[in-house]
Amino acid sequence: MRTYLVTGGAGFIGSNYIHYMFKKYDKEIRIINVDALTYAGNLENLKDIEKRDNYTFVKADICDKEAISRVFAENDIDRVVHFAAESHVDRSIKHPEVFVQTNVLGTAVMLNCAKAAWELPDGSFKADKKFLHVSTDEVYGSLSEDGGYFYETTPYAPHSPYSASKAGSDMLVKAYMDTYHFPANITNCSNNYGPYQFPEKLIPLIINNALQGKKLPVYGDGRNVRDWLYVEDHAKAIDMVQEKGRLFETYNVGGHNEKQNIEIIHIILDTLQEMLPDDDPRKALVSEDLITYVEDRKGHDRRYAIAPDKIKAEIGWEPETCFKDGIKKTIAWFFEHEEWLKNVTSGDYQKYYEDMYHTK
Ligand code: NAD
Ligand code: DAU
Repeated sequence: MRTYLVTGGAGFIGSNYIHYMFKKYDKEIRIINVDALTYAGNLENLKDIEKRDNYTFVKADICDKEAISRVFAENDIDRVVHFAAESHVDRSIKHPEVFVQTNVLGTAVMLNCAKAAWELPDGSFKADKKFLHVSTDEVYGSLSEDGGYFYETTPYAPHSPYSASKAGSDMLVKAYMDTYHFPANITNCSNNYGPYQFPEKLIPLIINNALQGKKLPVYGDGRNVRDWLYVEDHAKAIDMVQEKGRLFETYNVGGHNEKQNIEIIHIILDTLQEMLPDDDPRKALVSEDLITYVEDRKGHDRRYAIAPDKIKAEIGWEPETCFKDGIKKTIAWFFEHEEWLKNVTSGDYQKYYEDMYHTK
């Protein structure tokens, strides 16, 4: 049975990936989820799988060498899928240091521990061991409105402390591949949306605020463009890269779904109106009047757009969920998980861990 070490599996994409993997492989795999449970980690995201006997949760910081070495020493890890990171650009502008700590140093610890566990005396690596580093399109910087795409060959030009720290972590992975022939891949993905996304990010924030009749903050002129991908398509891409990708390669992952932020907000408002029943009191709250232009994000990248040509040609991956369906599924998920949203916005979800593991 293949054993996966997933870091950051209690976060948005990590938890969707774990759900995807158990749905696909069921009892054929084992997953060990290592997560420090920062504000972004939420064990409620994994409630329905926590009792599986092929799933283990380990609360640990990826910067903690001893803890991570122990996980490798106690388990024969075949695959690492490294999601754990500080992920929110606005937070990185306010508190850059923690981004350097987790994203750069934490990745160095993950690489070192995997290398130590997998390396043979002659400097080669045990067969069939793979490390996948989950990264972002933001490392490539910003595109102009007139066109152009991010390719795997596009030079790195990060602007925010978040993207600079992710670029640093990518460079470390590349250095390990070049120097030691360390068996790894990097994926650089565009903006994800879907279930379990923390409501500090644009799409869940707009859904949550609109349903409560709160203001919908639009940074700058609202015309910044992002390339949106349904999170399950990202999970599938990661699995396909580990199964079919060429080692040492980078693959860009994107939805060919570019939209201005203001367009996204209008789509969400229209979809909420369409999906809410007439007798739901929230229907009257959802209104374009809530749209509020606010001060722009510092160093705000204008446009991101991924060219997913390589992953399509080499691996056969393509997004399956179009934005119209994906946003409906996402809104339906938020309707069905009001309690989750309430717990997250009130901070109660952190008590779930304390109750479950009696840590208080
Ligand atoms: P998230 O913020 O929702 O989750 C991050 C997870 O990592 C949380 O569970 C958190 O507790 C954990 N974590 C943070 N610091 C840790 C540490 N020091 N040790 C152990 N665990 C720690 O993030 P996300 O949106 O799910 O993103 C996951 C990964 O995917 C990140 O590496 C991010 O850069 C990348 N990515 C995200 C997107 C996106 O649109 N969200 C797009 C492309 C790439
Ligand atoms: O491109 C991939 C990246 O996408 C990931 O690497 C990051 O982890 C993820 O957070 C995301 O970064 P963005 O900065 O693009 O996502 P965010 O949801 O924060 O913002 C999307 C766009 O919406 C961006 O142009 C800023 C704008 N925005 C955001 C918020 C939270 C607003 O106009 N108002 C808001 O309140």
